[in-house]
Amino acid sequence: MSASPPLPAHGPFSLRARLVTPLDGGGHRWEPDARVEVDARGRIATVAAWSDGDDGAAIDVRPWVVMPGLVDLHAHLPQIPNVGRGAGLDLLTWLDRYIFPLERGFDRSTAERLAPAAFRAMAAAGTTTVVLYGAVFEDSLDAAFAAAEEHGIRAVLGKVMMDRLRYDPSLADADVLAASLRQSADLIARWHGRDGGRLRYAVTPRFAVSCTADMLRESVALATATGAYWQTHLAEDADEIAEVTRLFPDAADYTDVYDRAGGLGPRSILAHAVHLSDREVARLAESGSHVAHCPTSNLFLASGAMPLARYLDAGLSIGLGSDVAAGPDLSLLAVMRAGAYTQNGRRAMLGDREPPLGPLDWLRLGTLAGARVLGLGDVIGSVEAGKEADLVCVDPSTTEPLTGLAEVAVDPTDEAADLVSRLIFRAQRDTVRAAWVRGRLLPAGQAGTAPTDA
Ligand code: GUN
Ligand code: ZN
Repeated sequence: MSASPPLPAHGPFSLRARLVTPLDGGGHRWEPDARVEVDARGRIATVAAWSDGDDGAAIDVRPWVVMPGLVDLHAHLPQIPNVGRGAGLDLLTWLDRYIFPLERGFDRSTAERLAPAAFRAMAAAGTTTVVLYGAVFEDSLDAAFAAAEEHGIRAVLGKVMMDRLRYDPSLADADVLAASLRQSADLIARWHGRDGGRLRYAVTPRFAVSCTADMLRESVALATATGAYWQTHLAEDADEIAEVTRLFPDAADYTDVYDRAGGLGPRSILAHAVHLSDREVARLAESGSHVAHCPTSNLFLASGAMPLARYLDAGLSIGLGSDVAAGPDLSLLAVMRAGAYTQNGRRAMLGDREPPLGPLDWLRLGTLAGARVLGLGDVIGSVEAGKEADLVCVDPSTTEPLTGLAEVAVDPTDEAADLVSRLIFRAQRDTVRAAWVRGRLLPAGQAGTAPTDA
């Protein structure tokens, strides 16, 4: 592992580093020796190949690599304490045994303790933008938003809405819908768009099993009226889908349940979408809806192997989600790894014919594609001049098999793809060495350890 150079806490600064990034116009950029300048407002001012006359004031972090910050489109903040527990269960059993009891206890003081550590752990994993579900309690969302505001991460949060199969006994069934809408609206008024749009709100009906048609429809109306995002779960697991069919007998399929509520469109993020008919894929694509692909979770709960290539060919907009805690790892590099293994498994066992995604395709899904899902493709997601400086530095030496062996390795045929391939398949806890949002260094550390000072 290379020694840590001093890292700038905020712009303006200039880095000398290796660089790999997807590009807005398609393809990627690889610079073995680059200059990346961030201005005082936290924007990327310059991205250029290093030239010998360049300013010596640049901080030389080579052999580290600058990349865009990772965008996690789907995770559950209150569930983090249970990551990795409950292996072998199906979704609905796991929710009942491991998740609803945990979320029931997610009050303000629990959120105040957990959220700051969670955001530091996300930054340590290279996540600079995260879309999170909270629990049903309004004040725990205030605490989570306050922690995100303080930490510096870019965050979209939402209070979970449930008016059946719910875990909060404090309200009568008849009062839940109105209270949940009012609380969501109040949170939107306080937090949506805060800090120049760094913090945003997603109206969050949990899924069709936990929400009546009234709640789905009213939640869409609230999101539409306020410009907030709308997020829920879709077609994750066979038993869940059977339950939705039972609860909504008039709907053509699971996607149609949300369509009838007005829930499809460019502000909608649907997690999982493992089991979709061609009709559903076409309708999602046509409506401009987005899918958060969560392969670690889909493998952990044996939900299924999403046909990613088929969906991409159909023009569906897709980014990546860790889905903690059903996904056991906050790291989007781990999510990319599980996604790649899943696609290989489909090719090997189901005979999928589409060409496999390469490492740089996975990097794009975890960065620029995620930014586009959020309507932020012109703001973040790639290291290009004019964008806000949401960046990470990774240390590729942490991914080497044996220290010192690199010198005898064969020359790579594609240096960028090989580097990112190693990052995806061999990322370690210390692979990400720094993360910035708008040029501000994020405090980072594994939960329970002291944050670095920023
Ligand atoms: N579907 C409804 N709620 C959840 C959840 O908390 N996790 C997952 N993976 N799927 C869900
Ligand atoms: Zn989820």
